[in-house]
Amino acid sequence: MKTTLTLNQHIYLDQKNHPQGTGVFSEILSEIALVGKIISREVNKAGIAEIYGLTGDVNTSGDEVQKLDQFAQNTFVNILGYSGNLCAMASEEEEGLIPISAGKDLGKYVLIFDPLDGSSNIDANVSIGSIFSLYKRVTEAGPGTLADLLQPGYKQAAAGYIVYGASTMFVYTAGLGVYGFTLDPSIGEFVLTHKNIKLPAVNKNYSVNERDYYSWPEGVKTYIEDLKKEGKVAARYIGSLVADIHRTLLYGGIFMYPATNKKPEGKLRLLYEGNAMAMLMTQAGGAASNGQKNILEIEPTELHQRTPLYIGNQNEVKKIKQLLQ
Ligand code: AHG
Ligand code: MN
Ligand code: MN
Repeated sequence: MKTTLTLNQHIYLDQKNHPQGTGVFSEILSEIALVGKIISREVNKAGIAEIYGLTGDVNTSGDEVQKLDQFAQNTFVNILGYSGNLCAMASEEEEGLIPISAGKDLGKYVLIFDPLDGSSNIDANVSIGSIFSLYKRVTEAGPGTLADLLQPGYKQAAAGYIVYGASTMFVYTAGLGVYGFTLDPSIGEFVLTHKNIKLPAVNKNYSVNERDYYSWPEGVKTYIEDLKKEGKVAARYIGSLVADIHRTLLYGGIFMYPATNKKPEGKLRLLYEGNAMAMLMTQAGGAASNGQKNILEIEPTELHQRTPLYIGNQNEVKKIKQLLQ
């Protein structure tokens, strides 16, 4: 009989690989999984609960805030802010650092997240997601500071996403491989379905928004035109980073959001989109670059800074970097 390994059991067993682990790390991952279950429930009944539509607000990046964005944001802050395991948070939906409320214990980690990724797809019932990056604090004690948040991606203690699609999946890495868990609503648990995900070597799909073709750097145009001349690699673009990366991770291929003359730093944000995806893809045997350097090596200067992103099959990322030189 096939044993069902739940996320909590996996995290607990994995904790044994970190003898110095105090269990706080495992607790944080379990709390993020709980956030995923709560958001998944709302996403799956959004139409009924009338939480589609816009709140009328606009966030730091200038995007219109959807009710589900707000719900997801509040869920992350309430659950992760409550536990006493963090000393600060940061989110796409908040301009500055999110402090841990007074009276709560301060932990030794910080969490940076995109509570709802792919918001423009909510009303069309297309897959959306949540993205998170976990770091150990670098300051000694007291409330977390920007220094604790502005760390390069290679310092992530863990990274992952929850994809709210045909099924809800929790995909994460703590530096020892990438593991995927599928929510079984009948028991309310994430169960292990994808052990140690490795990026297939085949360049199955290329994924980019072709609207920007005429604003792309020449190297990107050449790369895509060559793929089209060959006619072997299928174009797939969902417009939710989590869904596009999840497909790339499982099927193989390349995703890109290039810099353009209108968006010289691209659109995607380094701290709560690029870094988590770069750690996951690297752990799965792929690569992630901003066109010049490894995403994980970029020293951040601002919470919402953007980065061009070329991510997926190592050879393809290398090819694009050479064409961009
Ligand atoms: P968010 O909904 O968190 O603002 O993220 C949207 C991002 C990302 O999910 C996706 O890859 C990208 O926007 C799509 O942008 P385009 O619509 O310009 O292709
Ligand atoms: Mn978002
Ligand atoms: Mn996003």
